[in-house]
Amino acid sequence: MNEQIVILDFGSQYTQVIARRIRECNVYSIILPFNTQAKEIAKLQPKGLILSGGPSSVYAKNAPLPDKAIFKMGIPVLGICYGVQLLAHFLGGKVEPGQKREYGKGTLTIKDDACLLFTKLPAALQVWNSHGDKLTKLPKDFKPVAGTENSAYAAIENRARHFYGLQFHPEVVHTPRGKEIIANFVHKICGCGTGWTMHNYVEQAVKAIRDQVGKERVILGLSGGVDSSVAAALLHEAIGDQLTCIFVNNGLLRANEAAIVQKVFGRHFQMKLQYEEATRAFLSKLKGVTDPERKRKIIGKTFIEVFHAAMKRAGKAKFLAQGTLYPDVIESIPIAGNPAAMIKSHHNVGGLPKNMKFELVEPLRCLFKDEVRQLGLELGLPKEIVFRQPFPGPGLAVRILGEVTPSRCEILRNADSIVVEEMKATDWYYKIWQSFAVLLPVRSVGVMGDERSYDYTIAIRAVESQDGMTADWVKLPYDLLEKLSSRITNEVKGVNRVVFDITSKPPGTIEWE
Ligand code: XMP
Repeated sequence: MNEQIVILDFGSQYTQVIARRIRECNVYSIILPFNTQAKEIAKLQPKGLILSGGPSSVYAKNAPLPDKAIFKMGIPVLGICYGVQLLAHFLGGKVEPGQKREYGKGTLTIKDDACLLFTKLPAALQVWNSHGDKLTKLPKDFKPVAGTENSAYAAIENRARHFYGLQFHPEVVHTPRGKEIIANFVHKICGCGTGWTMHNYVEQAVKAIRDQVGKERVILGLSGGVDSSVAAALLHEAIGDQLTCIFVNNGLLRANEAAIVQKVFGRHFQMKLQYEEATRAFLSKLKGVTDPERKRKIIGKTFIEVFHAAMKRAGKAKFLAQGTLYPDVIESIPIAGNPAAMIKSHHNVGGLPKNMKFELVEPLRCLFKDEVRQLGLELGLPKEIVFRQPFPGPGLAVRILGEVTPSRCEILRNADSIVVEEMKATDWYYKIWQSFAVLLPVRSVGVMGDERSYDYTIAIRAVESQDGMTADWVKLPYDLLEKLSSRITNEVKGVNRVVFDITSKPPGTIEWE
């Protein structure tokens, strides 16, 4: 079993960030619902426990409260924000509503440099606060070890029991040295080593896959996206030819996508790759359709049909592999006022008919996206796949407003490949969440040489985002925009105008349809 830290989730929007920071320290971490019983937690033999922040007040009627036996498990505990208030609530301190909400940057002054949390840190640090309630009386046998402008109890400890509390958020980037505080907790206080690396994980995952699959066959739907690609490489490492990857070309892919998949997985890795050319099946069904929702439904349904038929051709298999990631499987209990609990991913294509009976293999289900990328590199996948931006299942169809025809696909594919090329050339491609072209259904008048033109408009979309749920438009440099506009209007037949989308999400969505 990996050495691990358990995080109890009280509904903070940052709970997953805490887990990621710990893993960046090469320590495995998992997130459990706040009310997980101490005896269940103990079965996992964690080296330490973290109580996350959350939107509630400890004294509110329906406040999420943990099993009080967690304080008797004999392992180190770190309470963050709401978590420190829980320490006070359960261990004899007092929490009261603050005069005003403390929100934003503050300066932490360390009063006791023997406190292990602050090992090798300077006497004053920038920290990020976001809390309304305030600790007004320390829990029994605790002492303050650091304070801010507004609170003498910004960090507290009970050194004998290895209990620590932080009123600020060490996990967020606005606490620039916060990761070191977390590292001190997991290494110096909990005594964890640094064994959690993707290099080590390969061996562990290969063994788990072999144990699960035995001599049976596995089928994987390979989209060419990061998750399915890394899952394919990992499964291939584990079971070689027992794996068959099915790749569907729906005719709605970006330029060269199908060729890259064939080159990397078919030729380089020598995987059993079943290439399904289904452009006609998709485009004929999309003929005359302009409504965005109908397009999506048609594409989803056609995919299932094509994939189903491909699976039959692939022959009998007991297992179906999926590139499910950890954020999709974290069990969470909705907590009032917590936006993280209300927003649900709406794009997971569960996609197969219910009557198809498979056992699932999900070799990435305990990993975060950044770990999946590292794992991909570890397995020898090229950068162009590992650092690929997200691409929607319905492909270019949701970026072609109006009817999807072969010629309009061609226009968008050509414009889009210029966007990708220039974004990569300037490295912007790797810095942001997504950047792409959209083909608008409007035509406008232009002039080229001495001739009047009446052609389509391309919109360029570039957004920054953490998870696709919200997004900010990216202020790309003017010279890059100029280059994009000039290349697209010069090189893409049928386009005479380029515009830049300056809408964030909300109110816009990232895709135009
Ligand atoms: P929206 O347009 O909803 O997109 O702001 C949020 C993120 O999801 C991607 N997206 C999809 N991904 N199937 C997918 O696999 C889909 O149907 C789909 N629609 C949108 C989008 O590219 C963005 O990253």
